[in-house]
Amino acid sequence: MTSKLPAEVFVYVTLPGETEQVTAGRFALTKNRRSTMEGRFVYGRSYLARANAVELDPVELKLSQRTYATVTLGGVFGALRDASPDYWGRRIIQRHLGKAQPSELDYLLFSPEDRAGALGFGLNQTPPAPQRTFNQTLDLATMQTIADAIGKDKEIPTEPAQGQIENLLLVGTSMGGARPKAVVEDEAGLWVAKFNRLDDTWNNAKVEHAMLVLARKCGLTTAESRVVDVAGRDVLLVKRFDRERTAKGYLRARMVSALTLLRAEDTHQSRDKWSYVLLAEELRRVCSEPAQDAAELFRRMCFNSLISNIDDHPRNHAFIAKALEWKLSPAYDLTPSAPVSMERRDLAMECGDAGRFANASNLLSQSARFLLERKEAAASIDRMEEQVRNTWYATAREVGVTERDCEAIAPAFAYSGFRFDPGLLK
Ligand SMILES: Nc1ncnc2c1ncn2[C@@H]1O[C@H](COP(=O)(O)OP(=O)(O)OP(=O)(O)O)[C@@H](O)[C@H]1O
Ligand SMILES: [Mg+2]
Repeated sequence: MTSKLPAEVFVYVTLPGETEQVTAGRFALTKNRRSTMEGRFVYGRSYLARANAVELDPVELKLSQRTYATVTLGGVFGALRDASPDYWGRRIIQRHLGKAQPSELDYLLFSPEDRAGALGFGLNQTPPAPQRTFNQTLDLATMQTIADAIGKDKEIPTEPAQGQIENLLLVGTSMGGARPKAVVEDEAGLWVAKFNRLDDTWNNAKVEHAMLVLARKCGLTTAESRVVDVAGRDVLLVKRFDRERTAKGYLRARMVSALTLLRAEDTHQSRDKWSYVLLAEELRRVCSEPAQDAAELFRRMCFNSLISNIDDHPRNHAFIAKALEWKLSPAYDLTPSAPVSMERRDLAMECGDAGRFANASNLLSQSARFLLERKEAAASIDRMEEQVRNTWYATAREVGVTERDCEAIAPAFAYSGFRFDPGLLK
C-alpha cells in the first residue's frame, strides 16, 4: 500500500517534572534494499545538548548521536510501538481514515495524545501544546453506546448534532489492548475506562476489579481501580499510573512494555523470548531497585498462575520512569480464565525449567534469577496460594461479582495442577 504521508515524523517527549513537550528526535520509516520496513531514529542535537535530556527507552535508544536502525516490529522501535495504539485504537483509526490498512506512521500520527508514556509524534519540528481537554467521566454513557456499535461492527449511531467522526474521536485512544476502552478525566486525574463487551462470558469490569483487589491482598502493587455504573452497565476505571495531575497540567512518566525490554515481537517466532525469567534478568540491568522489582515480578507470575491469568503476555507488563530511574509499573489487566484442564495450564510467558507451566515447582525452579532464596520463594508461594484459595470468593462477592459469575470463574483459582509435581522438576 502506498501512503501519501511523509516517511518521517518528529518524536516529542515530556521531560520529567515538565508538562510541555520538547522535540527529542526524528523517526523515519522506509523500505530498505531488501524490501523490508526499516526504522531509523536519531536524537536532535539541541535535545542532546539539554542538561535534562532523558533516554526514550532503557535498552534500544540510549542517549547518543548515532543513528539507530531496526527491522524488528516492522521497523518501529519498541518504545515508539508502545506509544501507539493496538487492536482497539487501530480499529478506530482505520474507520476514521477509511483505509483498510493504515501504515505504522498513520497510526502514530492519527492517534490521540492520550498515549501511554511520555512520547508524542507530529510533522512539525516544534511540538504542539499539550492536550488540555479530555473526555469526562460524564461522557461514559455515550462512549459505551459507541463502543457497543463498533464492537458489533454496526454503523455508529449518529445524533443530529454529532458527526460520525466526533463519535469516533470519543472512543479513539492511543492506549493499547484489544478491549473497548477510552481515557476519561475526573478531579483525581486520568483513568482508562474499560467497557464490558456484549459477548463477555462474565461481568468483566467487576471481575477484573476483584482481581486487582485480590492482588493487593496478595502483596502486589497494582493500579488503583473502581467500577462505575453507566446506564445500568458496569465500566471499570483504572487510574493511569503514567500521568499525574498538577496545577500546571499533567506530568508524564516514560513507559515501555516488557516486549520492548525483552527485544521481542508479538509473533510466534519470537515466543521463545517471552519469559518471566529473562524479564527478571533484563529488569535487573535496567531498574534502580532490582531486588524489589524482581521480587514483585515473581509475585505477579505466582499470582497469574493462581488465578489462571493466561493472558499475561509481555504487553501486560510495563516499566515506567517518572524521573530518571526505571521501575516495574503497577500491575494491570489481571483477568482469570477457566480452561477445561485441571492438570496443566500454561501462562503466556515462560516461568521456569518446565516452560510456561503454571505450577509451584516450576515457578520455584528459577527463583534465584529473581534474587530470591529458595525457602523465601517457597514460603511466599504457599502464602499466596492460601490467600487466593481462601479469599477469592469473598473478595469477588464484596465488590459485587454475582453468584453466577463466581461459579463461572471458580475453576480459575488455585487449580489442582498448580501443585502437581511431574517429577521432572527438582
Ligand atoms: N493504569 C494504567 N496506567 C497506564 N497505562 C495503562 C494502565 N492500564 C493499562 N495501561 C496501558 O494500556 C494498555 C491496555 O490496557 P489493558 O491491558 O488493561 O487492556 P486490554 O484491552 O484488556 O488488553 P489485552 O489486549 O491484553 O486484553 C496496556 O498494555 C498498557 O500499556
Ligand atoms: Mg492488556
